[in-house]
Amino acid sequence: MEAIQVPQENGINSGPSDLSWDVNSGAETEAFRIAMRRVVGGVTVITTRHDGQSWGMTVSAFTPVCMEPPTLLICVNNQTITASDISREGRFAVNLLSQAQLYLSQLCSRTGEDKYIDEHVVPRDDLPERVVMPVLRDSLVTFDCKATDILSVGSHLVVISAIEAILAPRYLPPLLYGEGRYLHGVAIGEATSRRERSA
Ligand SMILES: Cc1cc2nc3c(=O)[nH]c(=O)nc-3n(C[C@H](O)[C@H](O)[C@H](O)COP(=O)(O)O)c2cc1C
Repeated sequence: MEAIQVPQENGINSGPSDLSWDVNSGAETEAFRIAMRRVVGGVTVITTRHDGQSWGMTVSAFTPVCMEPPTLLICVNNQTITASDISREGRFAVNLLSQAQLYLSQLCSRTGEDKYIDEHVVPRDDLPERVVMPVLRDSLVTFDCKATDILSVGSHLVVISAIEAILAPRYLPPLLYGEGRYLHGVAIGEATSRRERSA
């Protein structure tokens, strides 16, 4: 494994500047953690059924796999309630969060606490019949999923899933996460013209 050099950036949570390590020294785990903090992306809440109620877990490890057939994957810690729900039922939904759902991301990431979210889901009667799993209000998109393969990799389950239904009610500003904090995006052209206006 090659050493990663992470340059200092304006002193914002940038961590150590020299992340070189000896192979198998254990330092690569920390370097990987620090490096992955640099990744900025969308945030999802994975919804499952737990004890007959809706349950949510905040997950950023979500990626499309292929278009035909429509397939995605998520990575969830195997110690979580969500991992046990998915292993048992093989069903879940991926709710891509909008900025209006920041509080849900915070609620659904509290380790060891109840994450029942029935009060935040769209009533069953308002959903198309083919949608099976809980859909969170104000989501950008919800993917109703059926697991096809579950791989165990270290501490996590990699859940590869067929997309059974997609709901994309309306466009809302997406919630982003990176450098250990919540962010919102600004289009590059927009940021430039703001700078020019204030110059
Ligand atoms: C922004 C954000 C993204 C997260 N992404 C993941 C992830 O991709 N996979 C994961 O296993 N945990 C992720 N977590 C942590 C889980 O949400 C948290 O450990 C989980 O809700 C604990 O569930 P439990 O109470 O069932 O143990 C993330 C947390 C936050 C705040």
